[in-house]
Amino acid sequence: MAEGRARYQEAGGHLSGRSTYVDDWPLPEGTLHAAVVAADVAHGRLRGIDSAAALAMAGVQRVITAADIPGDNQIGDIVPDERLLAESVVKYRGKPVALVLADSAELARRAAARVRVDCVALPAITDVRAARKAGHTFGDERRLCRGQPAQAFAEARWVVQGEVDCHAQEHLYFETQSALAMPLDGGERLRLLSASQNPSAIQRFAAKVLALPMHCIEVEVPRLGGAFGGKEEQAKVWALLAALGAMLARRPVKLVLERQEDMRWTGKRHPYAVRYRIAADPDGHITAYAVDFLQDGGAVADLSTAVLERTLFHATNAYQIAHVQVTAISCRTHHPSNTAFRGFGAPQAVIALECAIDHLAREMGRPRWRLQADNLLRAGYAFDYGMTVTTDALHACWQRLLEQADIAQRCAQIERHNQSGARYVRGLALTPLCFGISFTATHLNQAGVLVNIYTDGSVGVAISAVEMGQGVREKMQVIVARCFALERNAVRVDFTSSSKTANVSPTAASVGTDLNGMALLSACEQLRARLAAFAAEHYALAAASIRWQGGCIEGRDADSVVQRVSWLQLVGAAYMARIDLVKHGFYATPDLYFDRSRERGRPFAYHVYGVSAIEATLDSVLGTYTIDRADVVYDLGQSLAPLVDLGQMEGGLVQGIGYATLEEIRWDAEGRLLTDSLATYKIPDLLSSPAISVEFIASDSNRHGPFSAKAVGEPPFLLGLGAYTAVLACIRAANPDAALPYQLPMTPEKALLALYPRKPC
Ligand code: MTE
Ligand code: HPA
Ligand code: MOS
Repeated sequence: MAEGRARYQEAGGHLSGRSTYVDDWPLPEGTLHAAVVAADVAHGRLRGIDSAAALAMAGVQRVITAADIPGDNQIGDIVPDERLLAESVVKYRGKPVALVLADSAELARRAAARVRVDCVALPAITDVRAARKAGHTFGDERRLCRGQPAQAFAEARWVVQGEVDCHAQEHLYFETQSALAMPLDGGERLRLLSASQNPSAIQRFAAKVLALPMHCIEVEVPRLGGAFGGKEEQAKVWALLAALGAMLARRPVKLVLERQEDMRWTGKRHPYAVRYRIAADPDGHITAYAVDFLQDGGAVADLSTAVLERTLFHATNAYQIAHVQVTAISCRTHHPSNTAFRGFGAPQAVIALECAIDHLAREMGRPRWRLQADNLLRAGYAFDYGMTVTTDALHACWQRLLEQADIAQRCAQIERHNQSGARYVRGLALTPLCFGISFTATHLNQAGVLVNIYTDGSVGVAISAVEMGQGVREKMQVIVARCFALERNAVRVDFTSSSKTANVSPTAASVGTDLNGMALLSACEQLRARLAAFAAEHYALAAASIRWQGGCIEGRDADSVVQRVSWLQLVGAAYMARIDLVKHGFYATPDLYFDRSRERGRPFAYHVYGVSAIEATLDSVLGTYTIDRADVVYDLGQSLAPLVDLGQMEGGLVQGIGYATLEEIRWDAEGRLLTDSLATYKIPDLLSSPAISVEFIASDSNRHGPFSAKAVGEPPFLLGLGAYTAVLACIRAANPDAALPYQLPMTPEKALLALYPRKPC
């Protein structure tokens, strides 16, 4: 670990402020600044836009509306239901209606405030249940089934049912949505810097909006100051607006959202309304689980149906349940469209089942962790969507956590402590996790890379993935250095650019490292074979004896004497012999398929497993609590960069704890976001984070990851959700009769109300 710490490369730049983001880019001469005129009704008919007052301001260059778009004003990806600029209807508060270009950002914003938007308000639906009732949905209901749930419920000894409300979550990446568009060659083509997880989609839609071929548009992503899914689909609008402004004005255009604009106008984690029914036999085996997920997709389809699909696949999380029935549907409301967020629909599924188990355990009078332990996934279980569990990794994580975090003894201690009548009560919750690794949209599971060996022996690498703080560049550097037996600083991983890697998938679904790492392995192996063949001939070495070691290639000559040629010599000689030192590498995850008509297939390359134990302390008088300690065991395979992985674990865990406890989004009935700044929206900080102890284990080898590494990006988030059940346990210890709906987040206010009997009004 110490070695990893000394070598963690991006951290220095991030912490000192030296890392550059789109907003830090030196501005080309003549750059204009853009501000967005956004709709101020949740639903309305647009009758007219009056820009005269804005245009009258000195330094205001242009006001752009839908009518100015040279190409197609349609930017919905999965479903074509989204305009770049509103035309006749507005479907949410914050919808871009016009774009102002001016000499400074401040001036552009002042001018934007003077643009008069004539919009007739129409009735708005902001409640997901009302949207369902009105039949406003994206796509049909999805349904998965395993066994005979109806019969199992009828025969069960224990059955409980209830509801769980999962709320939204703000991404709160450090870097707000940003873009800088620069026309080239007199406006024939465009260079577009965008803070996006999905550069190819931006290139594709910019081409569509501007009516240009994709080869005229180069999209570059330097690095992201955090994304968490919020820039998978929703960096697009801002990049396209900057591109549109730049091409119309024939000048560079910069568009960077202010924090409040970003919070008000962009989508969040999907709120879900969940109904469950769960049953057990007298021995504590969960026999049946039926669950209905209502998803608030927001105003346009965005990624909602893909998110919903992951909810469907994670409905039983890490438990084996014989009879299962899951339904899920995405509903259209007049909120800004909800979007990808770390976990991508799985957190809502995981928390729903944990709440159902909590309910069942109370009804049965069993410790919650006992019920969990008795129903954990084991090898051989077939998921309702068709895949079969091939490993007992979850069990290994669970056992290891019980030992390492001393769970049995701590539970007993906590019980004794709570029974002593102390004011500060404690609670501990375990959360097991099984997370499917791959995009559920099969075609996205591909990546291309480019490896350039230069004549000084340094290696430049272009990848499909975007660096957003998850350390993908560092991991790629490790892979290439390992392949050629070089020092890591001999390898440089470039910023992502559509000119170097084409048709890339978004950096998402936690598969950035897997896909790009495997593509890199393929490129490096081919280059190694090429160079080894050259070396065998040029230096008369026995081909079979060639090894890569310590910055050299070595092999036995005709006399069986080991000869060593340095990498620099080898590369120089190969160049002189006109050997190609460049290789494209490609990887497509094998054996994936899914048949939606049957809801069966193999959507994931593999699953990752982990377990967390989270302990909380509650002040039973005030309702305030602290999350004291989190212990995690996670099956990571072979880590490529232990410190990066530890960072992913700690960061994800705390983000999950925030979702479970603190982060509360409020809208009013007209779809106005009330929590639109850090004064009202609280995220965990260092002081409110627990002491975290992480153990990575490698249960088996993983053929889908480079050097047997496994994905780590999103799963830690889910392990943080145990903070909800830990505080719940505290509340129950203080007030066993608490009437407590399952409703996230568990804020101190809710805890306080649950501690006291309701006073009659
Ligand atoms: N870590 C940091 N520091 N910043 C981020 O924005 N995004 C998460 C995760 N970890 C994120 C992060 C999400 S939502 C995903 S899908 C993965 O990183 C994506 O990167 P990977 O595929 O390389 O793991
Ligand atoms: N995860 C994350 N992002 C995605 C997915 C997924 O499964 N599918 C499409 N975008
Ligand atoms: Mo992550 S939600 O898949 O960007």
